[in-house]
Amino acid sequence: MSGIPHDHYEPKSRGTKWVESRLPVIGLLYGTLMIPTPKNLNWMWIWGIVLTFTLALQIITGIVLVMHYTPHVDMAFASVEHIMRDVNGGHMIRYIHMNGASLFFFAVYMHIFRGLYYGSYKAPREITWIVGMLIYLLMMATGFMGYVLPWGQMSFHGTSVITGLFGAVPFVGEALQTWLLGAGAVGQPALNRFFSLHYLLPFIIAGLVIVHIWAFHSTGNNNPTGVEVRRTSKADAEKDTLPFWPYFVIKDLFALILILVVFMAIVGFMPNFLGHPDNYIMANPLVTPAHIVPEWYFLPFYAILRAFTADVWIVMFVNWISFGIIDAKFFGVLAMFGAIVVIALAPWLDTSSVRSGRFRPMFKWWFALLVVDFIVLMWVGSMPAEGIYPYIALIGATYWFGYFLVILPLLGVIEKPLAPPATIEDDFNAHYGDAAKGGKAAATPAE
Ligand code: HEM
Repeated sequence: MSGIPHDHYEPKSRGTKWVESRLPVIGLLYGTLMIPTPKNLNWMWIWGIVLTFTLALQIITGIVLVMHYTPHVDMAFASVEHIMRDVNGGHMIRYIHMNGASLFFFAVYMHIFRGLYYGSYKAPREITWIVGMLIYLLMMATGFMGYVLPWGQMSFHGTSVITGLFGAVPFVGEALQTWLLGAGAVGQPALNRFFSLHYLLPFIIAGLVIVHIWAFHSTGNNNPTGVEVRRTSKADAEKDTLPFWPYFVIKDLFALILILVVFMAIVGFMPNFLGHPDNYIMANPLVTPAHIVPEWYFLPFYAILRAFTADVWIVMFVNWISFGIIDAKFFGVLAMFGAIVVIALAPWLDTSSVRSGRFRPMFKWWFALLVVDFIVLMWVGSMPAEGIYPYIALIGATYWFGYFLVILPLLGVIEKPLAPPATIEDDFNAHYGDAAKGGKAAATPAE
């Protein structure tokens, strides 16, 4: 697919000509900032900028935290307390970093579900999607390793549980677990390497974000109609788009400011709301907390991990045909990773000829159920694995896989989609016709 026709940067002064002929960096920045962007993007297209901002925020606050943090089992907990009590503004930096992780995951879930609803993963944006999923996996690894660093009770016992999962891999499990931890149990070698990787991974994420942006700048953005920008001529393309600067920059900044108001209210007034009180107790290998609960953003996948107990028929069946090699624990691990893999495979599982959910009458309901399912899984992941909860988790996990592996492929065949508008311009005019023309409706909305 050829790119959207648009103006290219022409250096005019002697200085800019000199720079451009040696390193065309001004042209690159101009191309990035002035990229033609579908003019009908709605508020669900703000999350990419929120994510970019949050990544920068996490890196900057993280670098300041590291100036005062000590990655040693005897000192880590005390060094975090030192940051909170003695370092100027330390408590603020820490609370921003701590809650910044939550903002990062909240934004990424909004961003992923936006993509799932508007079919942004569909051709030709598969690479954008896959790179996005790699970023998401690295975010999970980074979040997990960051949680170990304060060396509280949850840090320690959560790490034992999660790294213990690798021990469930048949034959090589124990060796793998020892290799990951650098020892037979969670201790100094684990803390050191997790600290090192927690510092490194965000920079790899930053590199992948550049690839992600490069990928969707090559295909052009998707938009709420799923209809592509016309590439027939520059004049046609200009009817469907607006340059990113200043239109979308202003819109995104406005949204970002509103989100930051809520974020700073949480940081200021209820900084520990999303955390667990046990992590304010120093790690003690001899005392296991009553409930080991991961951070909220891991809960849906944690629920899937725990859903497949030894008395579930599919687990029994797989256990039987694998001659006992795949037990319930390993099945749970496979299901947890599988639940993420199926998201990554969405471009190839969705068979619909229409991209956007807006024009898919049946899809809409199944998608709404997927969102509810995600929230239910998140809730059930925080509950003890007893009584009714494992059943709810099992139903939730089944729907999760059912949505991607059965519903998505089938819907494309049985559903009769509505006709999307012919062009983005048509959609824009249908929504904002008068406003765009500066007509009466726009000038006097109160009438
Ligand atoms: C650090 C994490 C991420 C950053 C900074 C980021 C950044 C962005 C930005 C700036 C955009 C364009 C504007 C927008 O759609 O909001 C975008 C688009 C997109 N992102 Fe991400 N993203 C991240 C993670 C992800 C993840 C985890 C996925 C899902 C697998 C994903 C999938 C997509 C897709 C499919 C698009 C294209 C949508 C379109 O063309 O309109 N991204 N991303």
